Amino acid sequence: MSRFSQPQDPLFQALDRSLEIDRRLWPYDVAQSRAHATMLAARGIIGEDDRDAILTALAQVETELAEGRFPFREDDVDIHMAIERRVTEIAGPSGGKIHTARSRNDQVATDLALYVRDHAIRLADQVEELARTLVEVAERHIDWALPGYTHLQRAQPVYLSHHLLAYVWMLVRDRERLRFAARQADVLPLGAGALAGVNFDTDRTQVARDLGFAGVVPNSIDAVSNRDFALDLLQACAVVSTHLSRLGAEIVQWSSQEFGVMELSDAWSSGSSLMPQKKNPDCGELLRGKAPRVVGHLTALHGVMHGLPLTYNKDLQEDKEHVFDAVDTVTVTLDAANGMMSTASFKRERMAEAASDENIAATDIADFLVKRGVPFRDSHGIVAGLVRAGVEQGRTLSSFTPEELRSHHELLTEDVYAVLEQSSWLESKISLGGTALPRVREQLAQARAVLDL
Ligand code: ARG
Repeated sequence: MSRFSQPQDPLFQALDRSLEIDRRLWPYDVAQSRAHATMLAARGIIGEDDRDAILTALAQVETELAEGRFPFREDDVDIHMAIERRVTEIAGPSGGKIHTARSRNDQVATDLALYVRDHAIRLADQVEELARTLVEVAERHIDWALPGYTHLQRAQPVYLSHHLLAYVWMLVRDRERLRFAARQADVLPLGAGALAGVNFDTDRTQVARDLGFAGVVPNSIDAVSNRDFALDLLQACAVVSTHLSRLGAEIVQWSSQEFGVMELSDAWSSGSSLMPQKKNPDCGELLRGKAPRVVGHLTALHGVMHGLPLTYNKDLQEDKEHVFDAVDTVTVTLDAANGMMSTASFKRERMAEAASDENIAATDIADFLVKRGVPFRDSHGIVAGLVRAGVEQGRTLSSFTPEELRSHHELLTEDVYAVLEQSSWLESKISLGGTALPRVREQLAQARAVLDL
C-alpha cells in the first residue's frame, strides 16, 4: 500500500534521487546497519535468527558493493534505500526488520559523521606529511638567502628555510583544525529515529562503542538536524586550500623567468601545445585555482543550513556533494603540493643576487642609527634620503664614500659598511622567530618536535 494515489513525476524523481552522490557512503551504511542489527537483537527487539539473516545479507551486499557488482535499480533513491532493498531481497522478511527503530534521518547523519571523522583524520595525516616534506626542504636550504617581500616589493632578506617554515606552521594549524572536525563528528546520531527518539528500549551506547564513536549525541532533535561537523570539516578544508593557493602562487612567481629562483621537476611541469620552449608551473596554478572551489563549498553549506528550521529537511541532502568534492580536492592538491615541493630545485646564486640588493638593508642602517641614540622616526627619514640619493645617482649604498655618508648624518660612520655586508642583514634578525640562523635552527627543532620528526 502507499499513501499516494499517483506515481511520482519522473522529473521530481530525478531531482530527488541522491544515489549517484551518496553511494560512496556505502561502507559506513553497511557498518552502521551491522551495529544496529546486532544491538536490536541484543535488546530482544528482533530475534537472533533475524539478526543472523540480516548480517549474512549485509556481508553479501558488502562484497557486491566492493566488487562493483551490486545490482542498483532505477528506483533506488539513495544508498540507504538501495542497501535495505537488497538486504530484504537476500534475507527475505527478516531484512524488512533492519529499519526497526531507525529513520533515514538518523541513518544519514550517522553515515556522514563516520565519513567526516575518517576523512578529517586522513587529511590531518596528509597535511602532516606535507609539513614534514617542507621541513626537509627547509633543512636542505637552511642558509640560502632570498628577498622577503611585502607588497611584492623587496623588503628584507630572509633564509629560504625560514620562509618555508612559515608554511609548516600554517599546516600545523590546519592539522589542528582537521582534528577538531574529527572530534566534532565523533558522537553517534543513530538512535534518534526521525527526530523524537524511538519507541524501543535501544542501547545507543552499544552502537556507539561498536562503531568506535567517543559518545552519543544527547539530544535526538540535534542528532538529526546537526551538520556542524560537516561545516567544521569544510572550514578546515577551506583554510588548507587557501594555504595551498598561497604556496601555489609563490611557486608560479618563483619559477617565472622574472624571479627565476625555482625550477620545478619535469614530472611536475607542463609544456605548451604551441611554444616549444615553455615549461609551465600548471601544478602551482591549480593549487591556486582550486582554493575558491573549496571555499565555495563551505559557503554553500552555510547557505543550506542558514535559517533551516529543525529538524530534518530535504535541503540537508545537499550537504554531501559539497563535503565530498572539498575532501577530494584537498586530497589531490595536498598530494600534488607534496610531490611538487619535494622534487623542486632552487637557484642559490640567483636568490642570493636578489637578496643582495643593498636597498633591502635600509632597515638595518636605520637601526644602526637607532642604536646610536637617533629616534627611529628620524633615522627612517635619514636612510630614506640616503636610498633616494643612491637610486637617483644609480649607485649602491656601499659605493658611497665616508664623507657622502656623513653628509646624510654625522653618525653614519664607516661602521655602516659592515652593516651592508649581506649576511649581516640576515644574522641581525636575532629576535625569537626571526631569520638569524640560530633562530631558524631553533624554529626547525620546534617544528620537528611538533611533527614528531
Ligand atoms: N538521501 C537523504 C539525505 O541525503 C536521506 C535522508 C532522507 N530522509 C528523509 N526524511 N527523506 O538526506
